[in-house]
Amino acid sequence: MQLTKASALLFAVATCTEAVRTIIPKTSFNSQSDFDADWGYNYPWGTDHNGGARMDKAQVKFSNGQLTLTAKKVSGQPDTTQGGKTIKINYLSGTIYAKEHFTVAKGGGYDFTGEFKATTTKGTWPAFWLTAVQGWPPEIDMAEWKGSGKISFNTFNTSSVLSWKDVAYSSPDQFHTIKCEVRDINQKDVSAKFYMDGTLIATQVGGGFFGKAMYLIIDLQMEGSSGSPGPTTDTLFQVRNLEVLSYNP
Ligand SMILES: *[C@@H]1O[C@H](CO)[C@@H](O)[C@H](O)[C@H]1NC(C)=O
Repeated sequence: MQLTKASALLFAVATCTEAVRTIIPKTSFNSQSDFDADWGYNYPWGTDHNGGARMDKAQVKFSNGQLTLTAKKVSGQPDTTQGGKTIKINYLSGTIYAKEHFTVAKGGGYDFTGEFKATTTKGTWPAFWLTAVQGWPPEIDMAEWKGSGKISFNTFNTSSVLSWKDVAYSSPDQFHTIKCEVRDINQKDVSAKFYMDGTLIATQVGGGFFGKAMYLIIDLQMEGSSGSPGPTTDTLFQVRNLEVLSYNP
């Protein structure tokens, strides 16, 4: 069959059913201005969360497309209070969050991809995750390392109703590719497909996540769920080729 210009164009339009838009490009860790266009320092709510590290802009470095978060042991920091619990701060570390909020729209969703070099040492708690902008959940832990030699993938419907998958994490001294495909199912629930090094590891469903704005966070927490005491030497969490694509119409 001979394609005329007009029919070739129609063919191209008909086969391109998904609108792909780059939300965060792979260049976001190239320079300060690239970084500032997409990312903010610390958690969206401040410097502290549910572990023993307080976040500090000085612990965040990037260049040539690679992010490095460094946790260092410190003393003399005031405690933090989280959910009525007092937590001792033993580290200064780095966290960044995307300025864009991620809301799954009808027939749409996102792909979150990156290469990660993360420790699984006791007391180290690096993570790449989505959490609710208002209230809670949604939360999707696209990759979380809780100091146990494993990597975890989790989706929370409530604090007690959650899907989780823990798998062995070999060669933490090397970069591993993590991809999470987040998609609308029925204008109510959202599916999350978790891939590691190109292999589908788990598919989970977030009940009622449709239309709810989420933050994207890359953090290096310490202690807390990863056990204590954590290391006395510096801990690094590195990320490269980070990219977020939108399939929202
Ligand atoms: C969360 O809610 C969705 C939608 O109702 C459901 O499909 C999924 O199984 C729930 N997850 C758990 C762990 O029960």
